[in-house]
Amino acid sequence: MSKAIYIASSEPNSGKSIVTLGLMNILLGKLSKIAYFKPVIRDISKNKKATSIETMIDHFGLNTTYDECYAFTYSELLKFRSEDNNAFVIDTIISKYKKLEDTHDFVLVDGMDFEGEGSSFEFALNVEIAKNLSIPFILIAKSGGCLADEVTSNVLATMKMLRDQEVPLLAVIANKVDPLKVKEFHKLFAHRLPKYLLTAIIPYIPELRSPTMKEIVEGVDGKVLFGQNYLSNPVDHFIVGAMQLENCITHLEENTLVVTPGDRGDIIIAMIQANLSKNYPKVAGIILSGGLAPDERIIKLVDGLETVVPIAQVQMGTFETVNKVAGVKSRIYPENHLKIDLAINTFEKNTDTVLLIDKIVTSQPEGITPRMFQYQLVKRAKLEKKHIVLPEGSDDRILEAAAKLLKQEVVRLTILGKKDEIEASLHRLNIELDPKNVNIINPIDSPLLPDYISTLYELRKDKNVNMDMATDSMKDGAYFGTMMVYKGDADGMVSGSINTTQHTIRPALQFIKTKPGVATVSSVFFMCLQDRVIVFGDCAVIPKPTSEQLADIAISSAESSIMFGIEPKVAMLSYSSGASGTGEEVEKVRRATEMVKARKPDLPIEGPIQYDAAVDPVVGKQKLPNSKVAGQATVLIFPDLNTGNNTYKAVQRETGAVAIGPMLQGLNKPVNDLSRGCTVDDIFNTVVITAIQSQRP
Ligand code: ACO
Repeated sequence: MSKAIYIASSEPNSGKSIVTLGLMNILLGKLSKIAYFKPVIRDISKNKKATSIETMIDHFGLNTTYDECYAFTYSELLKFRSEDNNAFVIDTIISKYKKLEDTHDFVLVDGMDFEGEGSSFEFALNVEIAKNLSIPFILIAKSGGCLADEVTSNVLATMKMLRDQEVPLLAVIANKVDPLKVKEFHKLFAHRLPKYLLTAIIPYIPELRSPTMKEIVEGVDGKVLFGQNYLSNPVDHFIVGAMQLENCITHLEENTLVVTPGDRGDIIIAMIQANLSKNYPKVAGIILSGGLAPDERIIKLVDGLETVVPIAQVQMGTFETVNKVAGVKSRIYPENHLKIDLAINTFEKNTDTVLLIDKIVTSQPEGITPRMFQYQLVKRAKLEKKHIVLPEGSDDRILEAAAKLLKQEVVRLTILGKKDEIEASLHRLNIELDPKNVNIINPIDSPLLPDYISTLYELRKDKNVNMDMATDSMKDGAYFGTMMVYKGDADGMVSGSINTTQHTIRPALQFIKTKPGVATVSSVFFMCLQDRVIVFGDCAVIPKPTSEQLADIAISSAESSIMFGIEPKVAMLSYSSGASGTGEEVEKVRRATEMVKARKPDLPIEGPIQYDAAVDPVVGKQKLPNSKVAGQATVLIFPDLNTGNNTYKAVQRETGAVAIGPMLQGLNKPVNDLSRGCTVDDIFNTVVITAIQSQRP
């Protein structure tokens, strides 16, 4: 049984990284320890690293070192082969590969990129390596600009070569296919290729082709003077800024790179302004040619600006610079998260990933790792695409998370706030949101407002709310967003990146109210530790729970854990384990445990119990030898908010665990709160769990 797959293309520029990234992502959703191995890497300049390896390690947090991930550079390979030392080459590759195979569940082997000796030599070497490692093959067929018939014939010829070498072929993926020809490719592949072969057709995606400013700067050997933070700007066009400013500016298109002599201060300033102006397209960056530095007064001016596009200086003249710019090829590198996400999403959208993973992974995973958990969350959210409202459109992190959610096609969104301000922020952040999947609403101008005000008034008039109060409340994003959810105009709400927990969840407590049979709204965090995911409750809502409320928290948390695929074993935490301790706080936990046992006799629960006895099998056995929960608890219920909130933060900070949540439980419809220190990833994760909560059970 093979524990690896070899991915190779038969021609240069096939866009293989879409497949390696996409495949790594689905493998990590299925298995725990995956390694990435590239037998031969491109030649790279001193002190630099191969971007494909860096991207894999950084983006997926792989536990291998850079050096473990490759055997030779291309020049080393050629040198050993010219010395007739091919046996050494193959032996070294086998021994490096085997080390990874021994310590991992699976190894994704990324074949050579084409460096120049000729496609047939390099492809033959890929086949030779795969044969020596005894691992099956996935073939990437570059298909841009080719006829379906031509590509199919090439695939058939390659299949024969692989068969002759006894290298099993599992899948063929045609990449960069003209979107208008996708159907034709499917038809021909189905007709002419054997049925056992898994096939996928990935259309050409222009955004993946555009180089970024970082790649351009590297390609022209430029020195960055300004705009270091925006080097991931994509470059779709370039122009030469040699003409008069008023003429130059009319040639701008979206994401244009401007090449201009370094002494053209007028062009530099105008391009920076054009980038900020709503009336002009975004400027990707500026390259200053001719080794000329801008006048120091211009430098002073630019230096004082808050947002500046990348500006780099080169020694070459304008003509040579433009030639070099035209020759820069786009690659995927670690910092370019949006491109990585787009590549992964493109792969998943166009490949039957369930079938593919079944074909290449034959072993069964043990338990659930954080990576699998997060992968499965996203996959589940995508099954039934929900509509989530984000009231805090003035926060850049919300807009960045929105871009990531929409790129991965996880949800539809409504963002609340002033439309022109949000659009200006999007422009500044260089973010494009797909208008088909996002709505921007300012509650104050919304036609929904009058109905929402009268609904709030009707719902809360018995609580002394009058029309003026309802009107004021409803102009606030948290109330408006919550009312969207109440009315069914959105499926869930995520807020709290700017506002407090009280501000965020009070509207939901006031009129979304609790589910039938549930008296208490509480919360859980999914704590993604290094090797497993556990549930912490309640760390966000109820400051001093009574025994009844603790019992409610325990039952709701157990239900939430089941909902997210974690088998509940509930530990009711206290400063004492078993019957030994006494005291008011211990008694409160003891009573709560008895209440849960009476209400849910089948639920494994232990309490009171200390944290170490709950999670450490040795301590658990020592303190409570007959317990079914001690030492293996998966749901940890804290006695009060002081303990819960600080413990989740301590675990998160000290161990680097990802804390997903807080997820509110017990409400009729999902509303979730963010912490004000949240990251873009926290927002992304919270929207994903909100979307899942709003799906049909
Ligand atoms: N479950 C169900 N209903 C509730 C709950 C609850 N846990 N708490 C309040 N309610 C209901 C009340 O019955 C009331 O309903 P009504 O108006 O129809 O009669 C309504 O909600 C408002 O009740 P208040 O007592 O006014 O509650 P208030 O809004 O002041 O506070 C809150 C509720 C916000 C949950 C409060 O308990 C609180 O501040 N908790 C701590 C939040 C916090 O700071 N967490 C830590 C930070 S979060 C983090 O770190 C991720």
